[in-house]
Amino acid sequence: MTRIALIIGSTRSPRRSDYVATWVEEAARRRLDGRGVVLDLVDVADFGLPVLDETHPAAYGLPYEHEHTRRWSRAIDSYDGFVFLTAEHNRGIPASLKNAIDYLYAEWADKAAGFVSFGASGGAHAVAHLRGVLSELKVHAVRAQVQLGSFTDFAVDAPSDLSDLGRMAVREHQEGALAGMLDEVVELAGALRRMREERTAPLTPVTATS
Ligand SMILES: Cc1cc2nc3c(=O)[nH]c(=O)nc-3n(C[C@H](O)[C@H](O)[C@H](O)COP(=O)(O)O)c2cc1C
Repeated sequence: MTRIALIIGSTRSPRRSDYVATWVEEAARRRLDGRGVVLDLVDVADFGLPVLDETHPAAYGLPYEHEHTRRWSRAIDSYDGFVFLTAEHNRGIPASLKNAIDYLYAEWADKAAGFVSFGASGGAHAVAHLRGVLSELKVHAVRAQVQLGSFTDFAVDAPSDLSDLGRMAVREHQEGALAGMLDEVVELAGALRRMREERTAPLTPVTATS
């Protein structure tokens, strides 16, 4: 089995991420049905992570001090690949997602990632930001990404009401784009899982001097 997490990064309430998560999860279950894939929604908001409060960077490979870190670690460690559902907040990913990523290291390493982003320009800046962050953690990102435009893939009934998050109104090609991205993630996640299983030595921790 290949285990894939759909990670919701924004922790706002209410948030548009919930609509995106529903759309992605339903389409992903249709696409991946019968292909030996376990698919879970993993919501950063459910983990109650404070702003990073571990003394040592996770890359040092030392035991975690806090139960919230251990719980988040167990969750992420159990997956072979990730699809990040990310809003764009001020030209980057939501701070909540960056914070959650920074908590861990080995749990992310040598796993696959794909992206569904949303924002005025489809969240393109957020994914560019996220690709750089993930490269530091040895996450292998696929080329394909799904970009949902605020003005093209959502319908807002009352544009003058800034609290109206609208609803999903995705253009027809987006489900195909999502399917292509998922196929890449699942294939890469399976290959990387086999690579990790065959590895004889554990991932070398980054030391304070390296
Ligand atoms: C703090 C903040 C900053 C934002 N900055 C951007 C931005 O730089 N570019 C953009 O396209 N959208 C930006 N937006 C709009 C969000 O990307 C959009 O509202 C998205 O749907 C929010 O998802 P969420 O409700 O799940 O957090 C911003 C929204 C917030 C709350």
